[in-house]
Amino acid sequence: MSISDLLYGRMKNALDYLIESKKVLIPYSTEPVESNDSASLNMILWGDPQISCLSPLRSARVYSACMDIKNSRSCFDALVLLGDITENGAACEYKFAQKLLAPIAGKFKNIFAVTGNHDIRLKSYKKQVKRFSSFLNGIENGRTGGNEKYYFSQTVNGYKFIFLGADRSAFEGSYLSREQLNWLDRELSSVKGSGKPVFVFNHQPLKNTNGLPVTFLGKGKWRGSVGNESEKLSEIFGKYDNVIYITGHLHYCTSKYTYEDCGSFKAISVPTVGVINHGDFSKFTQGYVISVVGDEVIARSRIFGEGKYTGEEIDNSEFRISLKNIRKTAEMA
Ligand SMILES: [Fe+2]
Repeated sequence: MSISDLLYGRMKNALDYLIESKKVLIPYSTEPVESNDSASLNMILWGDPQISCLSPLRSARVYSACMDIKNSRSCFDALVLLGDITENGAACEYKFAQKLLAPIAGKFKNIFAVTGNHDIRLKSYKKQVKRFSSFLNGIENGRTGGNEKYYFSQTVNGYKFIFLGADRSAFEGSYLSREQLNWLDRELSSVKGSGKPVFVFNHQPLKNTNGLPVTFLGKGKWRGSVGNESEKLSEIFGKYDNVIYITGHLHYCTSKYTYEDCGSFKAISVPTVGVINHGDFSKFTQGYVISVVGDEVIARSRIFGEGKYTGEEIDNSEFRISLKNIRKTAEMA
């Protein structure tokens, strides 16, 4: 038996033990998560599952969150995982993430993910991107770009989804090559004036947005962000009026920092579903349920592992992004 198989077996046994001894929260909900019938797009966002061969509790939290989805009667257009699917980028961790997601994969028409620093760091970039893509390709409705580099785009219900991905391994930041940034500019330009928002997904937020550096525990001027390419990325977004930039990485709870209107673009920082959420509202298994209804993007924070929405006393438990200006600009063009 290989070491990877041995570790996978241990992860499985540890989760089975936690479930059998009733140490895993099984959400029972009077308000199950449902898609919005009048929405033109319904999706669920989860940050940083960070499945670890050394931490059965992370597997248990993601298991609980998945049970909430399993209880739903709806089918959603997309589930987006915002990077750091695994702690160590190990084959057994991806295999276990696949096992956790398998029972709910049919609830989504598309399952997407972006690479996080933990997924690709300290190992061969090429090998890790291949491993990451294999992870998604091994899940029902999992989607990848099929490229050697990770970035790609896809249209979902008429909305452009753009997935960025570091072009080389880095311990914490995300190196985005000139080639990728030029590609991003062309992708955004191709839907300029469409009157619709464009959803851009990446692991790390931009510098000084979403409460940085406070939300990365006040560490340094760039830490917690994309890093060196942050200004260039921000400049590209600034050329358009319809970008909604969605990220993970911070492990910060639903809070006043979760949503930021950056003028020409909007920034959403999604809490972690698998690890500890920092900040005042430190519940596990937080994420967002997004629907686009008419001229609005409606975002609701949910504690998936408890099968309930976040109470309205918490900042940004629900927020709305108006699309009226985007539509108006398109009509005038
Ligand atoms: Fe990260």
